[in-house]
Amino acid sequence: MSIIFSGVQPTGNLHLGNYLGAIRNWVAMQNRAAVDAKLLFCVVDQHAITVPQDPKQLRQSILEVTAAYIACGIDPKRSVIFNQSTVPGHAQLNWVLACHAPLGWLNRMTQFKEKSGKHKDQAVLGLYAYPVLMAADILLYRATHVPVGEDQKQHLELARDLAGAYNRHYGVEFFPLPEPIILGQAARIMSLRDGSKKMSKSDESDYSRINLTDDADIIALKIQKAKTDPLPLPGTAEELANRPEAENLLGIYAALADQDIKAVVAQFAGQQFSGFKKQLTELAVAQLSPITQTMRRLLADPQYLHGVLRDGSDAANHIAQPNLVNIYDTVGFWRA
Ligand code: TRP
Repeated sequence: MSIIFSGVQPTGNLHLGNYLGAIRNWVAMQNRAAVDAKLLFCVVDQHAITVPQDPKQLRQSILEVTAAYIACGIDPKRSVIFNQSTVPGHAQLNWVLACHAPLGWLNRMTQFKEKSGKHKDQAVLGLYAYPVLMAADILLYRATHVPVGEDQKQHLELARDLAGAYNRHYGVEFFPLPEPIILGQAARIMSLRDGSKKMSKSDESDYSRINLTDDADIIALKIQKAKTDPLPLPGTAEELANRPEAENLLGIYAALADQDIKAVVAQFAGQQFSGFKKQLTELAVAQLSPITQTMRRLLADPQYLHGVLRDGSDAANHIAQPNLVNIYDTVGFWRA
């Protein structure tokens, strides 16, 4: 039986990159999953506080991500939607795994090196330990498949290593080694202001991204202002090398239209950016406005969202609890 787990951090607005790069693929997995497959989509609020958060804003972001999941097509009847902090097992397993995680493994994590910057002494322990908590998220449910972006691949490898270390140490075969499902090329949605940078919630410029809450006028304006280069659109995909902005915009079109990039390049070969941008706007608005509208409707009904999270938390705890009992017994903790 497959158990699929993934998560997004409730930090700032979700954007096109989150949708095309992650959530849309989860929806596809949900819709073709076997009847006995379990799917868990988590709002990882405990990961969010590895960098400073405003408590009020964090609480609101949890609801926004929940609304976005549902608006994008995650069905709370089919998939478990919940926020991490309501399932104590994440923090509990985190500690057990932390005691099996050699510092040498953590010191290799490139994301920590990037995020902690020049002042390593100021970086908090939680940021350093983040990949262990991520492993706990996955292993708590004995997940078999984890859809993630390329940037999380190394963290997934750590989760596999920790699963193996635990199994070997205690002589058990408890944790399956979780399979990463690396979301493909279409997942690499870059900033609209700089085709070499990932589209990101934390970019200062709102023009760098299309938020899932942007209305049609804002989407049109952002695409119109998106950085380009002076050449007409290329005739072949090979000519996209060294043209990161052209590649990004054509890539976004391809992802939204669910077409191969080669077909999209052929369709717009030799055209000016201005005409292409109009068509990209039309497509983006057509695809995103139903999501935006549903998100607005859901956010206007927080009671409904609270209910979804409550049910999801119950369901997640129900799966986690017997696993945690097994783990505590294996480790040798006395059960009162
Ligand atoms: N670290 C992931 C990210 O920033 C989010 C995440 C936390 C996650 N726990 C997870 C993803 C477990 C997959 C599985 O994108």
